[in-house]
Amino acid sequence: MTGASLTRTTAWNALAQHYQDIQGQHMRDWFATDANRFERFHLQAAGLNLDYSKNRITAETMKLLQQLARARDLPGQIDSMFSGEAINRSEKRPVLHTALRNFGNREVLVDGVDVMPEVRHTMQRMEEFCWKIRRNQWRGFNNQPFTDVVSIGIGGSFLGPKLASSSLKPYWDSGLNIHYLANIDGTHITEILKRLNPATTLFIVQSKSFGTQETLKNALACREWFLNNGGTEADLPKHFTAVSSNVAKALEFGIAEENIFPMWDWVGGRYSLWSAIGLPLALAIGIDNFRDMLRGAYDMDEHFRSAPIEQNMPITMALLGLWYVNFFGVNSHAILPYDHYLRSLPAHLQQLDMESNGKSVTIDGYQVDYHTGPVIWGGVGTNGQHAFHQLLHQGTHFSPCDFIMPMCSHNPIDNFHAMLVSNCLSQSQALLQGKSEEEAVAELMAAGMSKAEAIVTAPQKVIPGNRPSNTLYFPKSKPHTVGALIALYEHKVAAQGFLWGVNSFDQWGVELGKQLGSKVLSALEGEDIPQHFDGSTNGLVRAFHDMQNL
Ligand code: F6P
Repeated sequence: MTGASLTRTTAWNALAQHYQDIQGQHMRDWFATDANRFERFHLQAAGLNLDYSKNRITAETMKLLQQLARARDLPGQIDSMFSGEAINRSEKRPVLHTALRNFGNREVLVDGVDVMPEVRHTMQRMEEFCWKIRRNQWRGFNNQPFTDVVSIGIGGSFLGPKLASSSLKPYWDSGLNIHYLANIDGTHITEILKRLNPATTLFIVQSKSFGTQETLKNALACREWFLNNGGTEADLPKHFTAVSSNVAKALEFGIAEENIFPMWDWVGGRYSLWSAIGLPLALAIGIDNFRDMLRGAYDMDEHFRSAPIEQNMPITMALLGLWYVNFFGVNSHAILPYDHYLRSLPAHLQQLDMESNGKSVTIDGYQVDYHTGPVIWGGVGTNGQHAFHQLLHQGTHFSPCDFIMPMCSHNPIDNFHAMLVSNCLSQSQALLQGKSEEEAVAELMAAGMSKAEAIVTAPQKVIPGNRPSNTLYFPKSKPHTVGALIALYEHKVAAQGFLWGVNSFDQWGVELGKQLGSKVLSALEGEDIPQHFDGSTNGLVRAFHDMQNL
């Protein structure tokens, strides 16, 4: 399936025509004339509910979008992913993070070999490891139990576990403090280590490749700190573990073989939370809760594989996103969790979506003649309401929003949660309804303004409305729900990549920065500035040298 022909499909052309027909219509009128719009555009899957009625769609829109999905053989492409075809063609790899949460009896074949026994064996090792640490069977060098775990990793080896850890904070029952060290910034490592006792600190070096500059540098610095503060070389195996698909490099670094948990080439970094990369989380919440999270993801996998296109939640969200990007010319999408525990969701989805679908050529190497992945942004509600929501309501751009809302709180004090929900619902309502000029004039006059003055002031108060949003809701942020939620977005992103015909599973754009980074570092560290550096980079390198002694 290539992307080159996307804009020439009958379904695409029908959508382009349909866009002309409905783009001037207001959702307000659709709600006024259809008492069942909420039920009509509503889905349930794996414990999640999706209200997508506040979108610029009619039944005809959905029918045409679903036709496009069929024209792109979306079900066939989804099957190819689950069945282990090497759909990541530029890296010649299958895409099988779903095997990590395969609770069914299905074999998952890679090069003819079932990977499930190895997956289960690794889970068994994780369980034993968690048991020993959480029950204080495995202790630090002076026989004290561990109090702190430092997870060293970046990108997918950081964002997923961090999101799940903060999402599931109410389930932390081990007393361990979990710290995530990602950035190559002396400040980050200093601030983490200064609070820790080496004798009671466990390190997990998390790197699929075991070649990522930031992670290796941070890991070496932690090792140094450990050795300079009471630990000995002989104590290292008690305190340093690793998760990697590059066992040789982890061994070379000095991690004891029995402390290395495997990863596999067929798991992309941004999809690796479900593997041993999730260890810090499993240490915090216990392996049973970790398994519940995997089961939530598995339930979403089964839904994605088997639900018809019309009832398929990830596919529906993918099609809605495509509708806005390709027909409304929208280039961003906001993620708005109304749950403090889910506050890291926008950051995780930024990597998931933008590293996956920030692509300009099709999987066959043709330049696309349509837009692909949008900019993902967002933040936790209600804080965002007092910051960036102004642009959502009255800006010249419009950004479709996903409101994400647990209906019950883990911390039910007073009427806080009803107030939080009321904010969430009133934001999506305001985006939909807006405020007309007549309403603004009437409001101003009711507040005591003269009609003439009200007419002059009213344009400032007009809110166009007709701005689309999804509302994802569920009872509570539990392990199963969080697993289903993250998997939902994984599949939405994969489905969009399949529709756009891009490879959502490589990330070559990231590599250029890595290659140039080492040349710039040489220049900063005193070697000659290479001739081919541009004038700006030269100037900044000189400024770095000049400012060292200020
Ligand atoms: O920055 C690119 C990237 O390759 C991500 O895709 C990945 O999650 C991250 O770096 C970390 O990679 P690794 O786990 O190999 O250290």
